Amino acid sequence: MKTRKLLSVVALAATVALTVCACGTVKLKKNTKTHIIETVVPKRPAGQKDVLGLRLAPMPVVRVGFIGLGMRGPGAVERFTHLDGVQIKALCDLHPERVAKSQKYLEKAGLPAATEYSGSEDAWKKLCDRDDIDLVYIATGWQHHAEMMIYAMNKGKHVACEVPAVMTLKEAWDVVNTAERTQRHCMMLENCVYDFFELTTLNMAQHGLFGEVLSAKGGYVHNLEPFWKYYDANWRLEANIGFRGDIYATHGLGPACWVLNIHRGDRMDYLISMDVPATTLPRFMREEMKIENPQVKNGEMTQTLIKTVKGKTIYLEHNVTSYQPYNRYYQVIGSDGFANKYPKQGYCLRPTEESKSAVPNHEDLKSHDYVSDATRDALMKKYQHPIHAEIAEKAKKVGGHGGMDFIMDYRLIYCLHHGLPLDMDVYDLAEWSSIGELTEISLNHHSAPVAVPDFTRGAWNRLKGLQLYYAK
Ligand SMILES: NC(=O)c1ccc[n+]([C@@H]2O[C@H](COP(=O)([O-])OP(=O)(O)OC[C@H]3O[C@@H](n4cnc5c(N)ncnc54)[C@H](O)[C@@H]3O)[C@@H](O)[C@H]2O)c1
Repeated sequence: MKTRKLLSVVALAATVALTVCACGTVKLKKNTKTHIIETVVPKRPAGQKDVLGLRLAPMPVVRVGFIGLGMRGPGAVERFTHLDGVQIKALCDLHPERVAKSQKYLEKAGLPAATEYSGSEDAWKKLCDRDDIDLVYIATGWQHHAEMMIYAMNKGKHVACEVPAVMTLKEAWDVVNTAERTQRHCMMLENCVYDFFELTTLNMAQHGLFGEVLSAKGGYVHNLEPFWKYYDANWRLEANIGFRGDIYATHGLGPACWVLNIHRGDRMDYLISMDVPATTLPRFMREEMKIENPQVKNGEMTQTLIKTVKGKTIYLEHNVTSYQPYNRYYQVIGSDGFANKYPKQGYCLRPTEESKSAVPNHEDLKSHDYVSDATRDALMKKYQHPIHAEIAEKAKKVGGHGGMDFIMDYRLIYCLHHGLPLDMDVYDLAEWSSIGELTEISLNHHSAPVAVPDFTRGAWNRLKGLQLYYAK
C-alpha cells in the first residue's frame, strides 16, 4: 500500500493555515467565513471537455480484458459468459493459477480461450496495449486501481473498476482528467445501486411517492474477520491499518446519491466525520496474528454527515470490524414518505384522509408504522424498475449478490452496445470514492467540516435528475 505524501498547507487571503496531517495528497485551506476546510480544485486544462452524458458510437460487440482474478474477479468473468455481444479476449492476474481457473469458465461456456497474462507486476500493461480490446475490467486491490485505469484510458480503452476506484483526492482528479482528456467511459463497478429494493425505491422516488426527498442514509457494516487473511498480500488489512476514515463508502453512498440526484441538479457540499477507537481489529491482530502492539488507524466505526448545496443530508456509516449483522442501512426520508431496507424492507407513507386515526393516542407507537407487507409487495410490483422488468429473472439465475452484480454488468454492456451514457460516470466514481480521504481530513481536524470538491467543475446542475438510458 502506497503511503500518502505529507500534506503541504497553504494560507490564502481569506484562509488560515491548518495543522498538518499525515494523511493527504492535496493542499488544504480553511475558509474563515464558513470554517470549512477546502481542498484545491485543479483548473480544467485548456481544450479539455467534461464527460457528462458522454455518448459514443454504438459498439455491437464489446471486447473485454479482465485484470485481477482473486476473490471477486472470477465471478465477473463467469457472469460475462452469460452476456450477448461480448468477447472475453484476455485474462490477467499476478498468479497464473488464478488465470487458469477463470479460463475454465470460458471453456465451460463453450467460448474461445482468452489470452493469459500473469507472472509479473506489470503484465497487465500488455493486456491494455492490445488493439483488440475495448473495455478493461479491473478487480485488483485498491492500491492498483488508479494506475491501471489511467494507463488503460491512455491506451484508448473504456474502463470499469471495482470499488472504491480511487484512494486519494489526487488519484480522483488524475482519473477525472484522464477520462476527460481521452473522452473514454470510466465507470466504477458499484453494484448496490442495482439491488432490488434500492432500484425499485429509486423508481418510486422518481414518481414522487416520497414527495421531496430530503435525506438518505447508507452504510457498510460487514464484519470482515473471516476474510482478512484471504486478500492478496493482505492489502485490505493494510488499508485498515494505514487509513483513517470511511474507506469503503461507495456501497452505502451510491444509492443515496442516486436518489438525491447528486451532480444531476444537486451536489455534495461538505461533510463532517467522527470515529471511535479501533478495538476489535487490534485484538484480532494480537490474538490471531500474534502481533504484539498493532497500530490500526481506521476507527472501529466511522460516522459521517454530508450536506448538499440544496440543503439535503446523507448519513454514512463504516464498520468492518464489530460483531453486528450485515447492514447497508439504505434509507430514504421524504416529505411524503420513507423507505427502509435493513433490517426490515418497508415503506411508510403520508396518511390519507381515510387512514388518519380520529383521536391521536400517545400510547400507540405504531400509528405511523410501515405499510403492511402485502401493500409493500404491491407497491414494489407496481413500481418495478424497467431495468428489473427487463433482466431481473435472468440476473437471479446468473447470480452475483443475488443478481445485482449481473444487472450491473448487463447495464454496462447494454449502454456500450447502444452508444448511451453509462449509468455511472467518472464523476460518480470520484465523488463516491473520495469520501475516504475527505473523512480522514475531517477526523484529523477535530471533525471539522470539509468541502466535497465539485469534480464536474461547475457542471453539476446541467443534467436535470438522474437518468438511466434506454435505446429508443
Ligand atoms: N462490489 C462488491 O460487492 C465487491 C465485493 C468484493 C470485493 N470487491 C472489490 O473487488 C476488488 C478485489 O477484491 P478481492 O476481494 O477480489 O481481492 P483479492 O485480493 O482476493 O483479489 C485481488 C487480485 O488482484 C490480483 N493482482 C494484484 N496485483 C496485480 C497486478 N499487478 N496485476 C494483476 N493482478 C494483480 C491479485 O493477485 C489477486 O488475485 C476490490 O476493489 C474490492 O473492494 C467488491
